[in-house]
Amino acid sequence: MTSDSDLALHPETIAVVAGRPPRTADQPLNTPITMASTYGAGGDLEYGRYANPTWTAFEETLGALEGGRCLTFGSGMAAICTVLDLLDVGQRVVAPRHAYTGTLVRLAELVERGRLGADLVDITDSEAVLTAAEGAAMVWLESPTNPALEVADIAAIAAGARAGGAIVVVDNTFATPILQRPLELGADIVVHSATKYLAGHSDLLLGAVVVGDDERYRALLSRRSLQGNIPGSAEAWLALRGLRTLAVRLERAQASAATLVDRLRDHPALAEVRYPGFGAIISIVLRGGATEADRVCTTTRLWLHSTSLGGVESTLERRRRWAAEAPTIPESLIRLSVGLEHPDDLYADLAMALDRAR
Ligand SMILES: Cc1ncc(COP(=O)(O)O)c(C=O)c1O
Repeated sequence: MTSDSDLALHPETIAVVAGRPPRTADQPLNTPITMASTYGAGGDLEYGRYANPTWTAFEETLGALEGGRCLTFGSGMAAICTVLDLLDVGQRVVAPRHAYTGTLVRLAELVERGRLGADLVDITDSEAVLTAAEGAAMVWLESPTNPALEVADIAAIAAGARAGGAIVVVDNTFATPILQRPLELGADIVVHSATKYLAGHSDLLLGAVVVGDDERYRALLSRRSLQGNIPGSAEAWLALRGLRTLAVRLERAQASAATLVDRLRDHPALAEVRYPGFGAIISIVLRGGATEADRVCTTTRLWLHSTSLGGVESTLERRRRWAAEAPTIPESLIRLSVGLEHPDDLYADLAMALDRAR
């Protein structure tokens, strides 16, 4: 299927029909796992660091969902580092002051080693982002941000930043292409931790980059082939199986998140409930401090105390337990990743832990 014909279909349909083998007799309906370090010479694949048919099936599907050409990587961080590697020494990046810690730590390290310049901004303030973007080579957005749940006006920032010559990148991990398609909003590059919602079952790591431009696609492919930050074919196969059900999983988790937000708003143990109005991540800020928040995380029975997010199982974590988390994130902020359990059970479990922590 071409991306043009895919765009006419609904995302729910694309997630199911894209990335399949040809519809001829005796072909399996699903692309099999290809375990190969090398291929017969003279074809399109050649060597296992360059290509793999199982990666391609995943890439065709996510590319069709995001409306661009996709490359998969060994993890979200491998994808992020490869995109940052597009920049030349001395160029400057504008990035969110709150974002996934791995992204911010990597940027800080590149700045410290004199490779790049970086300005950290409040991405909810489009004017401030565009002022910082003047003369910058790249504007990095994560929307919603992890774990502050700030939302950027991607269309306004992309229009202004691209007019000034910057490449606009959006980490779309929290929204997924079901809720937000950054390339349609004017961004140049989308990155994903496919580890999260796309794969959806907390059983693998995978990353992805989607671009609209063929030259940039080739630049990223060349880096992946040379740097070897590739996924295993079993991971790509499992991630594609997860991707098939993304729309229904997210719809259900999002509905449960909205129900939980309504009930949590009046809870006396909470000073704040942050929810961007879409998606299935909620951040709650306790009136107490780190000790009370840690107690909540270890008291719930259904919510699993664990980092990461986007799985079928609900998880929770106090983000400041990580030394690298931004100091402007409250000590007692707990990030909730709402899974597929019944929302009444999830609320009862969390309310029990909140009551005990007071
Ligand atoms: C928004 C976001 N981007 C990127 C990453 C990194 O992805 P991975 O853990 O697959 O390397 C994460 C991981 O938590 C994330 O939350």
